[in-house]
Amino acid sequence: MSTANVHSLDQSPPVAAGTPGVADSRWLPDSSFDDAWHRIVLPGDTKERLARQAAATMLLRRDIPQSALPLHGIVLLAGLPGTGKTTVARGLASRVAASIANSRVAYIEIDPHELTSSSLGRSQRAVDELFNSTIMPVAEQHVTVVLLDEVETLATDRAGLSRDANPIDVHRATDAALTNLDRLAATCADVLIVATTNFDDAVDDAFISRADVVHRFPLPDTNARRAILEDTITAIDQQYPGAAKSLQDRRFDEVVAAGEGLDGRTLRKAVAAAAAMHPALNFDALTIDHLIAAITEAREFRQ
Ligand SMILES: Nc1ncnc2c1ncn2[C@@H]1O[C@H](COP(=O)(O)OP(=O)(O)O)[C@@H](O)[C@H]1O
Ligand SMILES: [Mg+2]
Repeated sequence: MSTANVHSLDQSPPVAAGTPGVADSRWLPDSSFDDAWHRIVLPGDTKERLARQAAATMLLRRDIPQSALPLHGIVLLAGLPGTGKTTVARGLASRVAASIANSRVAYIEIDPHELTSSSLGRSQRAVDELFNSTIMPVAEQHVTVVLLDEVETLATDRAGLSRDANPIDVHRATDAALTNLDRLAATCADVLIVATTNFDDAVDDAFISRADVVHRFPLPDTNARRAILEDTITAIDQQYPGAAKSLQDRRFDEVVAAGEGLDGRTLRKAVAAAAAMHPALNFDALTIDHLIAAITEAREFRQ
């Protein structure tokens, strides 16, 4: 094989782009995942604790027989939309890769919507196919992190839905997902599955009981809101110097207070909405009045 070929092989992701059911695949650690993780504000040492728990799960699964310690290698992150779950899931993947592996780690992000959107009767096959042909071959060769984003789509709570509302196909797809997860856990010791869900009530109990770590994401409290708003405004200030003057305004506390009940994504977007209120789009002239107006508007939209 020529050097050029070796080089191009090295560049290719663990799973080829465009593979059905796969939203993203790359090698870890990944600096863009790390950067996004650093911007997430959670209470106390939550992020570090999650990273330790995920790494411990992988190490213990490697060293202790499953009969003694029934770990599945699954971390479940639950919480309202916009509370940072997907960002933390990707960051966790990258952190764990950096801390426990001495070679690069494969990352596969599943798109469950794509799997279940196939026509009736195809979901179960799509799930089997995804595990057998896409995930397993990678997981047999590399330490692998799989992100099952919005897992409620795949592991729908069978008990909570009537037979009418819940076509047999959904049951089969859920069964297929659970069976395949069990098999993946049993055959590949070096796999970590990070799942996220916006509605943990909708996730199958059998899936929740398989999770080794379940973490619920809160809405940002006062300190977190302040940090998120400051981070967003500071990022704008780096491109449009002057925007961060709003942080020195004594009414900035009012902005923070007005954001009560809003998630992190909505808070960041409200800053953009405030910047867009300047008649000439002078983002460097971001005002406290516009920030308060944008956040109040975002809250009214919520109610
Ligand atoms: N607690 C938080 N701290 C800082 N930023 C946050 C927080 N929660 C959400 N965000 C921001 O909101 C956006 C959406 O986050 P995401 O991880 O996709 O949320 P989820 O998956 O829970 O819907 C990201 O830009 C993220 O940085
Ligand atoms: Mg998400």
